[in-house]
Amino acid sequence: MVSQTKITPAQFKKLSSIVYKESGIVLNEKKYNLLVARLAKRMRLKNISCVSDYIQLISDSPDEFKEFIDATTTNHTYFFRENKHCEYMIRTLDNTKPLKIWSAASSSGEEPYTIAVQLLASLFSFSIYASDVSDSMLKKCRRGIYPNDRINKIPLPLLHTYFQKGKGKWQDHVKVKPEVMKYVTFDKYNLLSDMPCDQFDIIFCRNVMIYFDTPTRQKVVTSLLKALKPGGYFFVGLSENLHGLDHGLSVVLPSGYQKK
Ligand SMILES: C[S@@+](CC[C@H](N)C(=O)[O-])C[C@H]1O[C@@H](n2cnc3c(N)ncnc32)[C@H](O)[C@@H]1O
Repeated sequence: MVSQTKITPAQFKKLSSIVYKESGIVLNEKKYNLLVARLAKRMRLKNISCVSDYIQLISDSPDEFKEFIDATTTNHTYFFRENKHCEYMIRTLDNTKPLKIWSAASSSGEEPYTIAVQLLASLFSFSIYASDVSDSMLKKCRRGIYPNDRINKIPLPLLHTYFQKGKGKWQDHVKVKPEVMKYVTFDKYNLLSDMPCDQFDIIFCRNVMIYFDTPTRQKVVTSLLKALKPGGYFFVGLSENLHGLDHGLSVVLPSGYQKK
């Protein structure tokens, strides 16, 4: 009962500052209804009717704290979303050289699996490290099972080659085949507070920085670029860009950049 959950301006400020500190996501007044709706859902699940009791719970319980942060992130994604970046990679890069790719903020896994099936079909040798701050999303990534209504953008030959149709109670789902899954490693990574400890040829960080303010975007970009090899590519979402940030990259296509 979203409408029954009322939060005071002080509670809104407290909760949005918790979200900002932990994930970098800015929840301003325009996001009031979103925060209330997601908070109400958590409170219902925990059988709590008073917002101050819930605020106390997230400060006492690391598990509920994680659930709350999870609930406030937007995980929307789909297979073959903004595929121009991947098409560019396949067109431009030499498939005889192994590629190390990072899908930072991979949500439920559609992005890294979309990249994997196309690189496999184009005979690239590669590995993908996929990460997200959300444990529940990482669980979905590792399971690799998706409902049929999420797969309509996958070209049929790739769907038939790299996905298994579900049976019985799973008949409305597909599962990514093990021969695809083995190319993708999933791990928890907070773009705000973790430090990359590897070097990549390509980094996808798409449709997440849109929720950050400029100082947070700068911090995340500076940190990610330390993990990008010279000559490597950096892709952000098509509705995002690096305007106003200090990055030293050249633009190679819309929302696509290359390190000198
Ligand atoms: C909208 S999804 C983007 C998924 C995919 N990259 C795409 O473009 O379709 C945004 C993801 O960013 C993740 N996220 C939000 N804040 C994050 C942070 N500080 N560190 C890592 N991931 C974060 C969320 O959990 C969510 O799964």
